[in-house]
Amino acid sequence: MQDRLKELQIEALEKVAAAADLKELNDIRVSYLGKKGPITEVLKGMGKLSAEERPKMGALANEVRDAISGQMEGKQKELEEAAVQKQLAAEEMDVTLPGRPVKMGSHHPLTSIIEEIEDLFIGMGYTVEEGPEVEKDYYNFEALNLPKGHPARDMQDSFYITEETLLRTHTSPVQARTMEKHQGKGPVKIICPGKVYRRDNDDATHSHQFMQIEGLVVDENIRMSDLKGTLEVFAKKLFGEDREIRLRPSFFPFTEPSVEMDISCKICGGSGCSVCKGTGWIEILGAGMVHPNVLEMAGYDSKKYTGFAFGMGPERIAMLKYGVDDIRHFYTNDVRFLKQFSVEE
Ligand code: PHE
Repeated sequence: MQDRLKELQIEALEKVAAAADLKELNDIRVSYLGKKGPITEVLKGMGKLSAEERPKMGALANEVRDAISGQMEGKQKELEEAAVQKQLAAEEMDVTLPGRPVKMGSHHPLTSIIEEIEDLFIGMGYTVEEGPEVEKDYYNFEALNLPKGHPARDMQDSFYITEETLLRTHTSPVQARTMEKHQGKGPVKIICPGKVYRRDNDDATHSHQFMQIEGLVVDENIRMSDLKGTLEVFAKKLFGEDREIRLRPSFFPFTEPSVEMDISCKICGGSGCSVCKGTGWIEILGAGMVHPNVLEMAGYDSKKYTGFAFGMGPERIAMLKYGVDDIRHFYTNDVRFLKQFSVEE
């Protein structure tokens, strides 16, 4: 019986050592140490032994069991560790491989220009305002000194939605809205970028939808010289210190006096070329001193408060700054065009 137990031990230990995986190890455990296993079988014969031999044999059986299960524990750890290593090896990745390049988009050139102009005016203490694109006739025209039937309404062909609502033809209604919000009290210093709409036929220089940036300053003692100084700083910062500006008399119903601002042509340096149509100057924006009627309609006392306003088209500015010859390029989303304006971050 003793020999049989020893034999079983050797046999089991050999099998444990040879086990290739955890399943095989478990099968060995069940077959040798289980209730139906050979060790239990051998111990069934204990009844035939003498009272002296029985405890010895019992102790030996325990030793054999312990030896097998001890060995099994070690083997189990070893196999588990091997399984983890195998999985790690299978999932290994080469962190030194070059990555797939991510295609970067770029800001739309109009977005860049608008942000540049916003930053410039924010630096001079302005805040940014917005207004609705579907606008009331009142704010788009009437509050800007353009009553119904005024001939100057023809300067801006409009898309009407109802008798009293239209797609705004300029960003100037935001002037009226902002002043009204201030209820005739305190200074106003804003710019407002946004989309505007006019019933124009699209061509290289016209679009039925385009952008404008409006500026408005209202306070006590605001003068024409403040307007000129502001526009000069703006033009030189945006187009270069070497550029000159000039103001020409013009007409807008909501400003008096009204002007148009030109900058000196960069291409020819002022001597005249095809870009400036031989004049040496390029028109950039419309501006003027806020008309007293506009101030009064928004609740401001025009004897105490004065102001200036200006309005410009970012498309035109972008066209001049980047040498774009057709306004439609900004809206047709041709990536070959847009990619040229991508900036390396
Ligand atoms: N709203 C005018 C336009 O669209 C521009 C402008 C704005 C002129 C403010 C004077 C003052 O043509």
